[in-house]
Amino acid sequence: MNGYVMINPSSGDIELKLLIEAIYLKYSYDFRDYAVASQKRRVLHAMRQLHCGSISELQAKVLHDAEMFMELLQYLTIPTTEMFRDPAYFLALREQVVPFLKTYPSLKIWIAGCSTGEELYSMAILLQEEGLLDRSIIYATDINLQSLEKAKKGIFSLERVRNYTANYQSAGGKKAFSDYYTAAYDSALFDRNLCENVSFADHSLATDSVFSETHLICCRNVMIYFNPALQERALGLFHESLCHRGFLGLGSKESIDFSCHATSFEALVKSQRIYRKR
Ligand SMILES: C[S@@+](CC[C@H](N)C(=O)[O-])C[C@H]1O[C@@H](n2cnc3c(N)ncnc32)[C@H](O)[C@@H]1O
Repeated sequence: MNGYVMINPSSGDIELKLLIEAIYLKYSYDFRDYAVASQKRRVLHAMRQLHCGSISELQAKVLHDAEMFMELLQYLTIPTTEMFRDPAYFLALREQVVPFLKTYPSLKIWIAGCSTGEELYSMAILLQEEGLLDRSIIYATDINLQSLEKAKKGIFSLERVRNYTANYQSAGGKKAFSDYYTAAYDSALFDRNLCENVSFADHSLATDSVFSETHLICCRNVMIYFNPALQERALGLFHESLCHRGFLGLGSKESIDFSCHATSFEALVKSQRIYRKR
């Protein structure tokens, strides 16, 4: 079942459904099980930005112009992110998950929906400070290839990076944040060692399957855009991927309380939605 149960749908609702189906048929990007209200807001915003008078006009353009589709994708995927976003989450990882991770000889960590990489670099810094980076492989995945390219480069706006310093400190950071990057003009280039063991990949929680056994999965601010059916799918992938007693970090905005997977996990840090596989 997808998210479009429509009783007396408006023309706009029908146009939206047709656009999403067209994108799936033409480009194989599956947005059919995303939460409808926020998807509609994003499509209407994109429609105005891309100078289209209706969703149907946007659909016609996107079907015939792959570059236009890539532009629309930037609106549909919401790449918003920051470093050490919600510092209490990273502090909880550091204090309550890292002690368990230290008991493993090697680690596999999956950051699902990594966007432009800010969450990944935050995690790599935390692992390095805890002496775990060298024995970790990190999978950083997303459906937005432009975001993944940016993540690989590790270059961020210096002004934004300076603003992340407070987050880093609240997350229990042990050094000066500026130790991790080189400033050049208005950019900050992050230390290449941080992503030496990172594998970047195009992976969709909507259509792809599990690719590795992992010890920790972080997926924050991604499932809030999914409908319940797709949230179940994603949680199923995480459950399948995690090793026995592996950890799942969803962040304070997500919950598994009403999921059929709820009983497969126990809460380790309830406020930050950090779970452990039973
Ligand atoms: C709001 S960002 C969150 C970034 C980061 N996790 C954070 O919390 O700062 C949401 C990300 O999820 C990605 N995304 C959306 N649908 C996805 C899917 N089906 N599979 C994997 N990633 C997806 C988007 O491309 C975007 O980069």
